[in-house]
Amino acid sequence: LTQTEFRALFPALREWAWFDTPGSAPLADPVAEDLLTQIELWRRGSFEWRVWDAAVEESRGLFAQLAGVEVDRVAALASVAEAASTVAASLQPGSIVISDEEYRSVLYPFLALDPRRNPVIRVTATEGVVSTADLVAAIRSDTVLVAASDTLTSNGARIAWKELSDAAHAVEAEVFADLTQAFGVLQYDIDASGIDYAAVHGYKWLLCPRGAAWLVTPPGRVIAPLLPNWKSTVPPFGYFGGELELPPDASRLDTSPAWLSWLGSLPALKTMLRLNPAEVEQHCVGLARVWAEEAARVGLLPVIARQDSHIVVMEAGAAAPKLGRRLAAANVKATCLGTRLRVGVHYFNDLSDIERGVAALGRVS
Ligand SMILES: Cc1ncc(COP(=O)(O)O)c(C=O)c1O
Repeated sequence: LTQTEFRALFPALREWAWFDTPGSAPLADPVAEDLLTQIELWRRGSFEWRVWDAAVEESRGLFAQLAGVEVDRVAALASVAEAASTVAASLQPGSIVISDEEYRSVLYPFLALDPRRNPVIRVTATEGVVSTADLVAAIRSDTVLVAASDTLTSNGARIAWKELSDAAHAVEAEVFADLTQAFGVLQYDIDASGIDYAAVHGYKWLLCPRGAAWLVTPPGRVIAPLLPNWKSTVPPFGYFGGELELPPDASRLDTSPAWLSWLGSLPALKTMLRLNPAEVEQHCVGLARVWAEEAARVGLLPVIARQDSHIVVMEAGAAAPKLGRRLAAANVKATCLGTRLRVGVHYFNDLSDIERGVAALGRVS
């Protein structure tokens, strides 16, 4: 799909300059059409729940293809919180290194552990925002896990995964990466970057409904499911009694599936598979840079010095609420976070969106 063809899949973009994919993406036509078809079948009673249930397997395969990993390393869950909690429950005694500013679905599963067994080292920034170097400096000889998300949406900063994983692996700690805010736009080689566990929730950059999320596990490693359920066994699935016979692969970590989310994930992932990943990254990071430069020209201050992601966060001070209102009045969907303004660029965005946003900002001071 070209950028123009991709953009045309989103009716919402005729009305909105949509920069709020860090919050949630607008609905793409292929996803809407498939879901409406299934809902109509549901209404008429002509659906077959076993067919719906099989969407999980198909989706796992599509995600594995997108992620470039073997399908038996992919678990199907409903949230990043489930993925992080599953990994948290698998840990040996030892410390966990995590940014004090980390997204709560990544932070809280580790804070909920017994601090005597798994103390959490909450890393604060040495300058500006918590950097990869700050996380590396906090790793101790007893560290068992380093957890981080890419790109943190409070500032747009990226993690240098190879640098982080090299430091973690040197003390035999593992790396948990939440790629929810970047996967689908920025390119990843999960194995080459040393990431042990990668979690992605599909409702943002992957265009899925909320409730379809994946956890990529390390090759050859099996951990225990957090929420064993009727799917936590080798097929054929049964319903009553019997022994718990966990599958040997990552599907043992699957949580009980919300069917509509998985049905909607199929057209979404198929659409993403039709894009050229290098072109997507270049387009999004390039447009984000244009926004950062233009917004700086009218007086907004960048939160990080080097804009190398598709998410731009700018400091607007006391003017932030007023700017938020101006953007909303011009049908520009961006997010006001206190005194900051956040813009996330997907492949469906183009220069006309940026121009509309910049025009709406006007002069800040
Ligand atoms: C970095 C990050 N991870 C995860 C999520 C979603 O978390 P969960 O899947 O637990 O709802 C978000 C949502 O904004 C996020 O920004």
